Amino acid sequence: MSLAGRRIVLGVTGGIAAYKAVEVCRRLIDAGAHVVPVLTEGATHFVGETTFSALASEPVQTSLWHEASPIPHTRLGQTADLVLVAPATSRLLAAYAMGYSDDLLTATLVATRAPVVVCPAMHTEMWEHPAVQANLETLRSRGVVVVPPAEGRLAGGDVGTGRLAEPADIVAAVEQVLGTGTARDLEGARVLVTAGGTREAIDPVRVITNRSSGKQGYAIAAEALARGARVTLVTTASLPAPAGAEVVAVVSAADMEAAVVPRAGDHDVIVMAAAVADFRPAAVADHKLKKHELAAATDGAPVIVLEPTHDFLVDLGREKRPGQVLVGFAAETTDLVANARTKLERKNLDLIVANDVSAPGVGFEHDTNAVVLVRADGVDQDVPLTDKRSVARAVLDAVVAMRTTSTGDQPTSGRPEPRPTSPAGKEHV
Ligand code: CTP
Repeated sequence: MSLAGRRIVLGVTGGIAAYKAVEVCRRLIDAGAHVVPVLTEGATHFVGETTFSALASEPVQTSLWHEASPIPHTRLGQTADLVLVAPATSRLLAAYAMGYSDDLLTATLVATRAPVVVCPAMHTEMWEHPAVQANLETLRSRGVVVVPPAEGRLAGGDVGTGRLAEPADIVAAVEQVLGTGTARDLEGARVLVTAGGTREAIDPVRVITNRSSGKQGYAIAAEALARGARVTLVTTASLPAPAGAEVVAVVSAADMEAAVVPRAGDHDVIVMAAAVADFRPAAVADHKLKKHELAAATDGAPVIVLEPTHDFLVDLGREKRPGQVLVGFAAETTDLVANARTKLERKNLDLIVANDVSAPGVGFEHDTNAVVLVRADGVDQDVPLTDKRSVARAVLDAVVAMRTTSTGDQPTSGRPEPRPTSPAGKEHV
């Protein structure tokens, strides 16, 4: 109950992402917070007041004029431990930057001395507008914490930056601001994370790749940073990098090997979340292959000759130094735990994160995941379907527990040990 007893005003403004604020509300309540929801007039067009009233600690408030107290516009701000606005529209950011207070939420923001966290969500064009960025700069300069939007699908089917940050990340930001959040149990540790699917060239135009999005690796990098680690992120993905990570961009399995292997010895924890190709074209054409070139040698059926890539996780396992923790991923469709355990043993890993990529309703590009953590000490831990940040938390909890055991230290995080359960997990990278 990281937020037990904390009074949080949850401001919701009128954007399509308002529905996600319901999940933010639920998570704040689960963490023990007392949540006071304040909806703007615009927000009520997107999400029902009843939903928030049912979930939150107090009924929804929407107006400066419906409150029994004689000084309602200052009361909420004065009594809050934190004011959170999720989603925050460009209108809200502009009004707050100007100190304009024409509704209950803006009045609360102007009246509060509590920390304020805003989570913008809007179309990419609006997000990139200099006026919006200038307002954010003004707010930041006054100490307001901005949880930036992510890239992804927006209202109307557009894709770009502007999508509300994940509820788990928003709650993590609240915990961090209130100093109640993530334990700094990887303080000073050097963590290397790989992310994304490698791309193996056929010719200058075509590649062989896989469906890994890199989101799970990025979530692990972000969680490790939040816990105080120094993070190197070796990635094929072009997602917004978590602040503070050293990012090494790569394309192919060979690039990834060249980036990871020389750095491995300097890292205390290595998490191989990347989906590294097992095969690549044996020869890369220096020009775009014409259809007739591909088909000519084989009477019409095009043939691309493949060769195996080098499995450098095997090398990392062989050269693992004492105290180093090595984590692999296993994407499977059958015999999840048995296959994963075989890989763990063959590659000399401490932990393997097993994904059943055939599970219904989830897949490689999803924001959610369900895994089984298969550990070298024989323990299997189910992590049922949840957001990828929560999976990252479970993976790093297990890593911290192993580091604690290997050094003989007492756990510093206060987190419970992973609970062994029956191995029946399903996953998505
Ligand atoms: N891996 C690697 N280098 C490769 C292939 C895989 O380092 N050339 C790493 C991956 O990053 C992952 C782990 O090995 O952490 C398991 O990858 P996976 O493809 O599931 O295992 P394989 O051993 O290739 O087994 P298979 O494809 O036969 O299931």
